[in-house]
Amino acid sequence: MDHIRNFCIIAHIDHGKSTLADRLLEYTQTIKITEGQMLDDMDLERERGITIKSHAIQMEYVSNKEKYILNLIDTPGHVDFSYEVSRSIAACEGALLIVDATQGVQAQTISNLYMAIDHNLEIIPVINKIDMPNAMPEEVEDEIVDLIGCDPEDIIRASGKTGEGVPEILEAIVKRIPAPKGDINAPLQALIFDSIFNSFRGIITLCKVENGVIKKGDKVKFVQTGMEYTADEVGVLKMDMVPSKQLSTGEVGYIISGIKNATEVKVGDTVTHIENPCKNAIEGFQEVKPMVFAGVYPIDPNDYENLRASLEKLQLNDASLTFQPESSQALGFGFRCGFLGLLHMEIIQERLDREFNMDVITTVPNVSYMVYDKQGNVKEVHNPSGLPDQTMIDHIEEPYIKASIITSSEYIGPIMTLCLDKRGELVSQNYVSGNRLELIFMIPLGEIVIDFYDKLKSISKGYASFDYHIDSFRPSKLAKLDILLNGEPVDALSTLTHESNAVVFGRRMCEKLKDLIPRQQFDIAIQAAIGAKIVARETVKQVRKDVTAKCYGGDISRKRKLLEKQKKGKKRMKQIGNVQVPQKAFLAVLKLD
Ligand code: GTP
Repeated sequence: MDHIRNFCIIAHIDHGKSTLADRLLEYTQTIKITEGQMLDDMDLERERGITIKSHAIQMEYVSNKEKYILNLIDTPGHVDFSYEVSRSIAACEGALLIVDATQGVQAQTISNLYMAIDHNLEIIPVINKIDMPNAMPEEVEDEIVDLIGCDPEDIIRASGKTGEGVPEILEAIVKRIPAPKGDINAPLQALIFDSIFNSFRGIITLCKVENGVIKKGDKVKFVQTGMEYTADEVGVLKMDMVPSKQLSTGEVGYIISGIKNATEVKVGDTVTHIENPCKNAIEGFQEVKPMVFAGVYPIDPNDYENLRASLEKLQLNDASLTFQPESSQALGFGFRCGFLGLLHMEIIQERLDREFNMDVITTVPNVSYMVYDKQGNVKEVHNPSGLPDQTMIDHIEEPYIKASIITSSEYIGPIMTLCLDKRGELVSQNYVSGNRLELIFMIPLGEIVIDFYDKLKSISKGYASFDYHIDSFRPSKLAKLDILLNGEPVDALSTLTHESNAVVFGRRMCEKLKDLIPRQQFDIAIQAAIGAKIVARETVKQVRKDVTAKCYGGDISRKRKLLEKQKKGKKRMKQIGNVQVPQKAFLAVLKLD
């Protein structure tokens, strides 16, 4: 145990975590030559440059003639996955805090650092990308000293590109991070920090043994789920899984126990023995709940079962994705999917498209609401169209987030305007360094799911970083806004919005839909209504468009080609009553100016 070091790398997105991890793996000869980044194995991940799921990898390192086992637990970099970050952190004794020498401290640097400090981790600050011509190591050093109160000498300067600083980092891991503690003779207590799906082996549980020993063949229990299994195989994660006889206190590894369903393995759960179980589960377990919901519907109704099968497959890798059958008058049969956040939603949409070739229509995302009726009963609603009748509702509560935005002072004005416009309240402002500030806001999550990131990016010219955590549910005066096409309400276009902007919002929705719905062979009336009251109206004028008219009935194959082309164009359309509505229209609300 004395020669084990468990650590993670925490950083703001793109500050170079994966690149530096690769250099550590190369230097310790865990991997030979890098072709691209080794830790991100999904295509999509690489393209986006985001480590979506955390992994763990073991390295061997010799310091002063003593051999050490270093377990690097990789953490996902995005706020949507912050619970996974916190569990990965809980499995470590130390953390490398990476800060980009050209960017300085950013929102996720701070939020991840606080998580690490909460878990009493030894922090090794690293200034990365010092090879870059616009690196400002002195300024960034000051920021880090201000932030964590460390000695400037404790900060390592490094480059994931050239490999500079890598030997110093490895020495610091061995010298500064404490060995894991724990009692090898105590009952087994292992923290689950991740799971991976393998098509031959099923769901593989990744854990760190806090106390006791787990041996191959042991009968174990997962405390929170109450499920019991046999540990058919245990082992450590190098570039491949390497089976071993046992995992002992302080060690990080995997358990294979024939689990078929990813939802059985909950990150943060505790593994113990059925006989001689530990007294308490490891603290801090929290059920991750999806906060953002959207309807996902097959364009072709015959694809419904395929869509279900695809979602089930995605869930094998990603237990935080939820889905339930739902039907919409407008879109037919589909699923209401729950996501941790917006990025998570985008990833799932892309994977449905790329990996499963599914043509789907996705509705506007919304958050989960707590609806209180007049009798005091509370119901969680995931879809504006599932809202009970207005007369039955006493009040509605919506989730608020605590948002941290770091930016330089010149952008404070527009950012304040944006956040206040989104019903945000400024809680505090703190100086980070020089002219950079951290602003803390409370904002309804429902306002963030609609075009917040993009606006923040554009008004700050990319110089604002953003991070958030769900804070609490708070009462809000929300109104349901319905959209009618030729008098027919389109359930998939209903939204919940704050009473104070409902009318303006309705007007903008009608205007946007007018742009998005193509002219057809009759007039289309677009109306916005709150309850029975129509608050806005637009009309798409009729047009007569016969694509074959030009052909003078001549060449029949040419005529067929044109009709085929037209059919293709219709593919992404949905028939609502007699109106053809394109997919874009269902996301109109995201595009309001
Ligand atoms: P996530 O895994 O998405 O959180 O990002 P990350 O923090 O792992 O960043 P990543 O390692 O993907 O690096 C982001 C970008 O910076 C990539 O284009 C890297 O090639 C580049 N980069 C990383 N480290 C260095 C460095 O030391 N010097 C230079 N010049 N570029 C670097």
